[in-house]
Amino acid sequence: SAVAQDAASRFPFKPIAIATDATVHVPEGYSWKPLVKWGQPLFSGVADIDPANGVSLEASDKVFGENTDGMELFAIGNHQVIAVNHEYVNNETNLPNNEKGMPKGLDDVKILQHLQGVTVMEVTEGADGFEVVLDSPFNRRIHHNTPMKLSGPAAGSELVKTAADPNGVDCLGTFNNCGSGKTPWGTYLTCEENFNGYFGTTAADHKMPDDYKRYGIAAETRYGYEKFDERFDVAKNPNEPRRAGYVVEIDPSDASSTPIKRTALGRFKHENAAVVIARDGRVVVYMGDDERGEFLYKYVSNGIYVPGGDTSKLLDEGTLYVAKFSDEGTGEWLALTEETTGMKMDEICVFTRQAASKVGATTMDRPEWVAINPVAIEAYCALTNNANRAVLKDGKMRTNAGGDVMDISAVNPREGNEYGQIVRWYPENEDHADGKFKWDLFVMAGNPDVHKDGLYAGSSNINSGNMFNSPDGMMFDSTGLLWIQTDGEDSNEGDFVGQGNNQMLAGDPATGRIERFLTGPKGSEVTGMTWSADKRTMFVGIQHPDAPFPDGEGALPRSTIVAVKRDDNALVG
Ligand code: FEO
Ligand code: CA
Ligand code: CA
Ligand code: CA
Repeated sequence: SAVAQDAASRFPFKPIAIATDATVHVPEGYSWKPLVKWGQPLFSGVADIDPANGVSLEASDKVFGENTDGMELFAIGNHQVIAVNHEYVNNETNLPNNEKGMPKGLDDVKILQHLQGVTVMEVTEGADGFEVVLDSPFNRRIHHNTPMKLSGPAAGSELVKTAADPNGVDCLGTFNNCGSGKTPWGTYLTCEENFNGYFGTTAADHKMPDDYKRYGIAAETRYGYEKFDERFDVAKNPNEPRRAGYVVEIDPSDASSTPIKRTALGRFKHENAAVVIARDGRVVVYMGDDERGEFLYKYVSNGIYVPGGDTSKLLDEGTLYVAKFSDEGTGEWLALTEETTGMKMDEICVFTRQAASKVGATTMDRPEWVAINPVAIEAYCALTNNANRAVLKDGKMRTNAGGDVMDISAVNPREGNEYGQIVRWYPENEDHADGKFKWDLFVMAGNPDVHKDGLYAGSSNINSGNMFNSPDGMMFDSTGLLWIQTDGEDSNEGDFVGQGNNQMLAGDPATGRIERFLTGPKGSEVTGMTWSADKRTMFVGIQHPDAPFPDGEGALPRSTIVAVKRDDNALVG
């Protein structure tokens, strides 16, 4: 029947088996090749990475950064420009001659700082497929020292003023750039996740401000910036970490533009920023806070989006909400206002987690990416896992760092959740700006081979052939197919036997069917995805491979964006 054919055509590929090897696999009739790798020059005259010595200071802000993550492609005139995040660095591989990769001076710190942040690069398709356009005027590296502006309710607040910036509006750098977003007006949103990890102090017995604990800001860091760059020493600059943890807007069409930190969207460990226009034209941004027992957020602008109109205040003036899920499949968005929280607007935007705790938001199993269906009024969030969900310790219920309990609930139903689930919500009145929603679980990941029944077998759309754990990246293609990327346990043993390396699957929102499309190399996570302007190529991020990927045996493992095409050059999204 036509219906059956339709259902079959939702998956225009033959699903693949798990893999445990050192490379990428895609279905029959598809092929992949690297687009760009960590340390690869974006400009001519710049040296590629030297496996023995890493990237030089001179080259470090002119090469593709490490650990590719969220990305978006922008068609600008007849140019194709990709903006892509570099989440973090491995000290040992970037400073291979230093003990444990720890910096020995400011130059070492700068190398690490330059290799993170964002790359903006032009790409073009030739006879050998897509490649980076060297020296394109669009090419740009944004890193931990790039000048930016603070904007929105926290800009100019006492909470964000420093000795170097007495006005609290001019800051430097964007940190731990994880997931992404794209606005209808053609800008890139980069999301600051584990920003806490860059700020510390060597001052003995320094008393940390009370608000640091909720965000995990501690004296010791894995990067060691604070030893040589006093901006990162919280004993000297206690407000500096309050200038990180935001969604940052970047104009990819102008390499000289100043990135803007949009404080109205809140400060937390931002995963991504999924943007949709509400029925009346207001801008809605859904955002996850990736930490055990933290929350799912939504921002709604005051003004409406008018194509070609002034968009400069749309991400500054609006209301931030946090999700509360009932056990009956309904939910509501709780506004974070001066009335509901007893906090001032700048405090809400800087201490957003504390504000959300005050209104009684639902503690979640680590909200990662949100994806919005372009062909139905619904959205999805990957709740990756939560080892601490409900687990009793000393007879006590586990809590998040703010003391909010993490008991099991219908939306986070498993104690010690090691597999993760994807929640889907349907806004009331088919309007993403509505204050209420209905929800269900699109999938509960699990292992039906190890757990014959019960919640750990997974939901009914999980089977031996498509199982996975720890959903994380999620993107819809233009046809309404949901792409799911994983960042989980890839031991292929114990509770994870039969799940192989991290992977990318496709899900059909209408039927719940899920099929495996791609497997990553050992040790990697698959994260970040976008499409060429003609939708005949998909770009997929491979982060932190352990295996010698993509150059094979004996080569340095390099985080890489791969380009995937069909051999018949048909559409792939
Ligand atoms: Fe950077 Fe929550 O992933
Ligand atoms: Ca992620
Ligand atoms: Ca993750
Ligand atoms: Ca990651």
